[in-house]
Amino acid sequence: MALIALGVTGGIGAYKAIEVCRGLQKQGHDVVVVMTRSAARFVGPVTFEAISRRPVITSQWKRGMNADIEHVAVADAIALLLVAPCTANMIGKFANGIADDFLSSLYLATRAPVLVAPAMNSNMLAHEAVQRNLQTLTARGVRFVEPGEGYLACGWIGKGRLAEPVDIVAAAQRMLSPSQSSLAGRHVLVTAGPTYEDIDPVRYIGNRSSGRMGFALAAEARRRGARVTLVAGPTRLEAPAVDELVRVRSAAEMHAAVMGLAARADVVVMAAAVADYTPVEPAAGKMAKTEAALALRLDRTPDILAELGRLPSRAAAGRPILVGFAAETADVVAKAREKRARKGVDLMVANDVSRADAGFDVTTNAVTIIGATGERELPVQAKEQVAAAILDQIEQLVGTHAGTPLPA
Ligand code: PMT
Repeated sequence: MALIALGVTGGIGAYKAIEVCRGLQKQGHDVVVVMTRSAARFVGPVTFEAISRRPVITSQWKRGMNADIEHVAVADAIALLLVAPCTANMIGKFANGIADDFLSSLYLATRAPVLVAPAMNSNMLAHEAVQRNLQTLTARGVRFVEPGEGYLACGWIGKGRLAEPVDIVAAAQRMLSPSQSSLAGRHVLVTAGPTYEDIDPVRYIGNRSSGRMGFALAAEARRRGARVTLVAGPTRLEAPAVDELVRVRSAAEMHAAVMGLAARADVVVMAAAVADYTPVEPAAGKMAKTEAALALRLDRTPDILAELGRLPSRAAAGRPILVGFAAETADVVAKAREKRARKGVDLMVANDVSRADAGFDVTTNAVTIIGATGERELPVQAKEQVAAAILDQIEQLVGTHAGTPLPA
């Protein structure tokens, strides 16, 4: 059982926070509710007081509030700060360190993890200012429960509706105890690194993948309690501790390993940079050099991800959740969207590999996660953080069992 601060800000979804409060209590947690002034215009503090069975904090300036420097006392005591719904205004305050009310002061004062469930009009959510603030908070380690799509109170249809209380409570649970992760006990198959396509016994066609991105995903999945199989191409980096490590060299070997293992996987994440072409027939001995130019004939390799995407649908036969990476140098997100649809996968991670601080053989990455219901652009950050964000997204799919409809 943990003490959770539930911040409620001024949006129409404030009434759903009552259900969030009850859901947290049902999980055995104690909840202290912090309401902004505008939240109290949507739902009365008395309702939260009755449900949480604790005084509701509505103002820094209430009598008695400063005897114990309450925002610091609460900040120290809580195991999680959850804000649902969170307005664009409060996201802006958090991102920019403005502390002009109890909730924004609490955010600065606490060292507890922070989970935010944004809710606002679609145009506000898409606005560059809000997106930049969300990116700032993501880079700082704040986690989000993605807003849903549908009818908004303002009459629009679009993205911005507060996520369902049950999903918010589940996300809070996952943050409080990683063993509650929806990946706990699941089998996650991750591919990492390059493949080498032999030209002869001493030469090969390869790429610059270090394996770091795939290794970060494998390590994070294991930290969340998953059983992890890692299929790794040739890399210099040491692989993380996993349940099963399968070393491969070529695209054909990776294909055989993945197709053999995928049937028992719940999730397959293809972070490997698999060669698209391989020499038609590698020479048996070292090819002697001549004065003439050399032409190599190359065959297509099997597209492992696309083959997995053609398996019978997850709903019908338990196909694993499929996650691919699209490494591109131009029109990155558009090409990744197209690849997601063509390969029939649940999530495609668009990876701009033209940047010096992202993609191949660096410690940081900048990606956009593309799903059936939305996209999430992440700022440049450590590959470990990118891995955590991708797994958060996968967990939402595991939790809801909402797969991508496969192409007919
Ligand atoms: O290893 P690092 O140095 O950390 O670098 C990370 C990375 C840049 C390699 C990684 O983030 C990344 O982008 N991996 C995917 C690279 C790639 O092969 O992209 P693609 O757009 O060519 O392929 C799309 C997807 O299809 C990928 O998930 C790939 O694994 C898969 N694929 C591709 C070809 C093939 N024959 N079979 C496949 O399954």
